Amino acid sequence: MSFPTPWRTSARLTRRLLAIKQPYRCLSCSLRLAREEARQDAKTTHFGFESVPAAEKQSRVGAVFSSVASSYDTMNDLMSLYTHRLWKDHFVRSLNPGIHTSLFPSPNQPTSQTILDIAGGTGDIAFRLLSHATTVNNDHSSRVIVSDINPAMLAEGKKRSLQTEWASSERLSWVEANAEDLHMIDSNSIDLYTVAFGIRNFTDKMAALREAYRVLKPGGVFACLEFSKVHNPILNGAYKRWSFGAIPLIGQLVAGDRESYQYLVESIERFPSQREFAGMVEEAGFLLPGGMEEEGGWEDLMGGIAAVHRGIKPTEG
Ligand SMILES: C[S@@+](CC[C@H](N)C(=O)[O-])C[C@H]1O[C@@H](n2cnc3c(N)ncnc32)[C@H](O)[C@@H]1O
Repeated sequence: MSFPTPWRTSARLTRRLLAIKQPYRCLSCSLRLAREEARQDAKTTHFGFESVPAAEKQSRVGAVFSSVASSYDTMNDLMSLYTHRLWKDHFVRSLNPGIHTSLFPSPNQPTSQTILDIAGGTGDIAFRLLSHATTVNNDHSSRVIVSDINPAMLAEGKKRSLQTEWASSERLSWVEANAEDLHMIDSNSIDLYTVAFGIRNFTDKMAALREAYRVLKPGGVFACLEFSKVHNPILNGAYKRWSFGAIPLIGQLVAGDRESYQYLVESIERFPSQREFAGMVEEAGFLLPGGMEEEGGWEDLMGGIAAVHRGIKPTEG
């Protein structure tokens, strides 16, 4: 039998003291902290139809888009039977990006816009925004920042930009960022914020909406194009059969990746309805423009397969 010598005891005590990383806490504080930690651990969100820890969603979405990046544009055409091009054209046209220089400009009239295309992926929206500003509004100085969390999607976008006139233009730039934390973008610096088919993938959509509000200038416009809810039951039935039957299969045959496309259709299903999402846009502080569908700040495309939501950052308080 061995008895602890004084030096052994003090070494053990020192080790124990070093092992205590947290400062002293009263019992009730420790219990509260433990409960909070358990609550955080249990915080889940959905990844398609699966329920996953919130902290895991971002990396799983990242894996999906890294996997689909190289086939993304071809797959978009096949999955949407080319209609995504019409929706994107309409989305951009309805926003009328750029400043139309009048013959007699007033001294305080802005001459260009800074546009932020979030979850901009392969640049589909950004190229359209720049083309519209230039050809329709004769605006040769407005610029677009494409931002996406996924470096593989941005790399595809940059590669595609080489086929456009914006390849080495200062009017087009690329930023890798999570839409929920745009700390690299100044507050009140953006005229138009666009997000197309991106927001349903975000873990914390309200955080992204609040960031959109922060970076926009007063009077600036938030615009979102996203899959939504189909109202007509017959159209809805046909659409669901196509989404759940054909899209994962096309994903498997064309891109060799059934799971990623299964996630994409499931994530559409989990996205809030037009009305719910308009409520979230309003909750972030935006004014919903009247005159849009049901005065609720959105416009349905093809019976609600997709919808455009808009919000205006108020000019006062
Ligand atoms: C379906 S793609 C849409 C790309 C493009 N806007 C379009 O319409 O073709 C969705 C994009 O959202 C991006 N994304 C997902 N989560 C994001 C996040 N938290 N922040 C920024 N981008 C994100 C993905 O990397 C992907 O490029």
